[in-house]
Amino acid sequence: MENEAKAPERLLRKESVEEKDARELVRQEKYLERAKLYVGELEAVLGRQPTYHVQNFGCQMNARDAEKLSGILETAGFTETADESADFVIYNTCTVRDNADQHFYGRLGRASHWRKSNPYMKIAVCGCMMQEAENVAKIKKSYPYVNLVFGTHNLFRFPEYLCGVYENRGEQFDIRGKKIVDIWDSTDEIVEDLPVARKYPYKSGINIMFGCNNFCTYCIVPYVRGRERSREPKDIIQEVERLSADGVVEVMLLGQNVDSYGKDLADPVSFAQLLEAVAEVPGIRRVRFMTPHPKDISEETLQVIRRHKNIARHVHFPLQSGSNEILKRMNRRYTREQFIERALRIREVIPDAAITTDIIAGFPGETAKDVDDTIDVIRKVRFDNAYTFVYSMRHGTPAAQMEQVPEEQVKEGFDRILAAVQDSAKEQTARQQGMVKEALCEEVNAQLEGYVTCRLSNNLIVHVPGDASMIGRFFNVKLEECRGFYYFGHVTDEPETDPGY
Ligand code: 5AD
Ligand code: SF4
Repeated sequence: MENEAKAPERLLRKESVEEKDARELVRQEKYLERAKLYVGELEAVLGRQPTYHVQNFGCQMNARDAEKLSGILETAGFTETADESADFVIYNTCTVRDNADQHFYGRLGRASHWRKSNPYMKIAVCGCMMQEAENVAKIKKSYPYVNLVFGTHNLFRFPEYLCGVYENRGEQFDIRGKKIVDIWDSTDEIVEDLPVARKYPYKSGINIMFGCNNFCTYCIVPYVRGRERSREPKDIIQEVERLSADGVVEVMLLGQNVDSYGKDLADPVSFAQLLEAVAEVPGIRRVRFMTPHPKDISEETLQVIRRHKNIARHVHFPLQSGSNEILKRMNRRYTREQFIERALRIREVIPDAAITTDIIAGFPGETAKDVDDTIDVIRKVRFDNAYTFVYSMRHGTPAAQMEQVPEEQVKEGFDRILAAVQDSAKEQTARQQGMVKEALCEEVNAQLEGYVTCRLSNNLIVHVPGDASMIGRFFNVKLEECRGFYYFGHVTDEPETDPGY
C-alpha cells in the first residue's frame, strides 16, 4: 500500500530472525508462568504434587527433546514418575523405522486403560510421527482420549499448549472439542533456552543444527525434521559454557549431518571450527558428535580431533551399504571405494579412534552379491561396532516406490551382515586387552552388585568395582577381561597407554 511506502524506515525494518526467536522465547516464558498456576490448582484438587511421564522413542535428537519437555513440565510444577498412569503423559515418537511406529501405538492403546484409573490424566503426543498426516488422522479417529498433538517444528510452543490443555481452549492453535492439534510443515525459528531437565548431571546433548537436506531415498527424516538450520556458534558456545559451569563434563553435539553445520549461517562457520571452539571451553573433558556423513567429513575435522585429546576417539560413520549400485540408489553420494578411503584416513590420522557404523539390510533391489560387497567393506574397515537394521519402507520416500526384496532374502542378508560386524567388533574389542584408558563413570551397574559402568573415549564400556560416589568422574582403568563387546577391569594409578602419536 502507498501509505506503507511512506512509513519511516525504522518501522519498515524487518524483524531479524534472532529478534523473532527472542520474542517467542519471552512469549513461551509467560505461558510457563501461567502453566504454574494451573498446575498449582491441579495440586490443590489432587492433594499431592502432580506427576509427569515422558515416554521417549528413537534417536539422540529425541532424547534431547525429551529433556526439554521434562524441563518445561518440571518448571510448571510436575514431578517425574516412571509410571505411565501419571497426571501428564507425553509420547515423543520416532518414525525412522516401522517397528518404532508399532511400539508407540501399542503403548498409546494401553494409555486408555491407565486413564480409567486416573481421571485427571492428560495425554500428549509429539515427535517425528506427528509430522506424517496419516498418523495425526489415525490419532484423531482412533485415540479420542489424546488431549494434545504437536510436531517437531513447534516443540518450543509446549508451554503454550500446556496452558491450552488445562484451559481447554486454544489461541494460536486449532482446537476441536477438547483436543489441541497443531502441526507445522516447517519453521525458521530456533527457540532454545527454555528450561531443560537433563537426564544425567554430568553429560548433555546439544543441538547444533536441525533437519537434513540429503534425501537418502530410504529416509523419512528430511520430511519430518525439515531443511537444515544451524544455530549460531555463539549461542552454542554459551550453552556449553553454562553446562560446564553447571558441572557437565561431557557434551555431545547433535545434528543429522554435522558436516553441513554452519553453511547456512550469515557468517558461515565450518563444523571443524565449531568442534574446536567447543573443545576449548574450560571444564569440558569430553566432546562427542553425531552424526557425520561419509561424503562430507573433512580433513580439517580429523585434524581438530587429533589435536584435541578431549574430543572423543570415536567417529560414527554410517556406511548403509557397501555396494556401489545400492549406494547410488540410496542417493548416498559416495562409492564403496571413497568410503573405504575415508575410513582408512580416519584410522591413519586418529589411530586410536573407534569407527562405528549403521548398515541397512534388504534395501530394494539388494542381491546376495550386494551383501557380499557390504561384508567386504566391513572386513576392510574393521568397524569397532555397528547397528544393523532391516530396511523399513517409509511412505513418501523414493525407495517405497522401488521393488522390495522378499522377506526371506532380507533375513538371510541381515544375518550374514550381523555375523560379519560381530566378528569385526569382537576382534577390535579384544585388541585393547591390557590397555589403561581414561574412563568416565556413568552409572551403578544394576546387574552386578558392587560394580559401576564406565565409558572410554572410544565408546567402549568397562565394568569396574566401585560405587555411586564415582558417577560423573574420570578414572584410569585397566582393561582386564574381554567379554565380547565390553570389558571388566579395575581402576588403576597407572598412566594411560600411549596411543603412539
Ligand atoms: N529403514 C531401515 N533403516 C533406516 N535408517 C534410516 N531410515 C531407515 C529405513 N527406512 C537407519 C540408517 C540411519 C539410522 C539412524 O537409521 O541406517 O543411519
Ligand atoms: Fe536420513 Fe540420509 Fe539425512 Fe541421515 S543423511 S537423516 S540417513 S536423509
